[in-house]
Amino acid sequence: MTKPNSRPRSLSGIKPTGQPHWGNYFGMIRPALQLATDHDAMYFIADLHALTSVRDGAAMRRDTHDVAATMLACGLDPAQTILWRQSDVPEVLELTWILSCATSLGLLERAHSVKDARAKNVELNHGVYSYPVLMAADILLYDTDVVPVGRDQKQHLEMARDMATFVNVAWFGHPAGGTVDDAAPWDGKSLKRPRALVRDEVAVVPGVDGQKMSKSYGNYIAVFADGKALKQRVMAIQTDSTPLAEPKNPDTCNVFAMYKLFASADELAQMRANYAGGNYGYGHAKLALLAAAEAHFGPLRDRYRAHLDKPDDLEDILRDGARRARAIAAPVVERVRTAVGLPRQPHR
Ligand code: ADP
Ligand code: TRP
Repeated sequence: MTKPNSRPRSLSGIKPTGQPHWGNYFGMIRPALQLATDHDAMYFIADLHALTSVRDGAAMRRDTHDVAATMLACGLDPAQTILWRQSDVPEVLELTWILSCATSLGLLERAHSVKDARAKNVELNHGVYSYPVLMAADILLYDTDVVPVGRDQKQHLEMARDMATFVNVAWFGHPAGGTVDDAAPWDGKSLKRPRALVRDEVAVVPGVDGQKMSKSYGNYIAVFADGKALKQRVMAIQTDSTPLAEPKNPDTCNVFAMYKLFASADELAQMRANYAGGNYGYGHAKLALLAAAEAHFGPLRDRYRAHLDKPDDLEDILRDGARRARAIAAPVVERVRTAVGLPRQPHR
């Protein structure tokens, strides 16, 4: 039976596919850490998802530590919040198979990740197809309530809810065909249907070219970039060619959109006035953005480096997290195994 849980559970994942960037931080890391104050918070490094595209084992290991060090530097307290590496909880693959057997190819064909891979002509391996199934397993394995993510992940969350419904209808006796009553309390026996938490103001952080900031578009600014490298990235943000003397429109400007992430209401009002007043160039705005970013991330950078310098301690944190995550996953996977007619696993 599921242990009664007084606080709702928040869970999310981030792939070790490069250094975390501003989009990851504002879209996922910061909201996730804020939830940790009044949720049972669990966050993991999605190395199995990264495997759909990463072909370099050393990079995978390095980036896993990079993401862990970033989360810790940004304030994750491993005594409170569970931080683990996805592949250290093998139960997730068991649940993935069971969900796979209840998921139609039609649903998977509609996933943005599959459509993107087709559009960009990148390798469309079986893992890319299974990506939303593995992601649903990540979430459903822990009876998750809320999943803080950027807007790009919303469709995956809807698919996870659909998969939970299929399983609940197929094996837990839920009525077929009817619409699911979202307000109805969970019965404590079936798969819990999670909901996405997408903060509107940071749902899509733009990159230096104005498209969604992403590791795969090469348009990102890393959370812990510093010195020359950081300045170069900020100076590379694309702007229009309005002359220095003329007023500028903040609402169509990438620099302003990024400045918004860091600024207080007063600072933002001042920046709007600077744009409207003319004689304020994009170069000035970029320097203000650089200073704001440095004030925000600078103090965390030493902590990040200190964590990266102690890989054994990072491993201890991740292994301890996996042990705690497995203890939550085991009864859930047993519950599902029993429902579908697979034997219990007494070693768990
Ligand atoms: P990437 O798209 O750079 O490969 P991930 O897929 O690992 O990053 O994303 C990890 C988390 O960060 C997800 O919750 C995702 O929605 C969020 N995220 C990524 N990029 C952005 C962005 N530009 N704006 C808002 N959230 C983002
Ligand atoms: N697919 C997510 C991304 O690309 C990462 C992820 C994997 C995830 N499993 C998850 C996010 C479970 C939330 C919940 O960003």
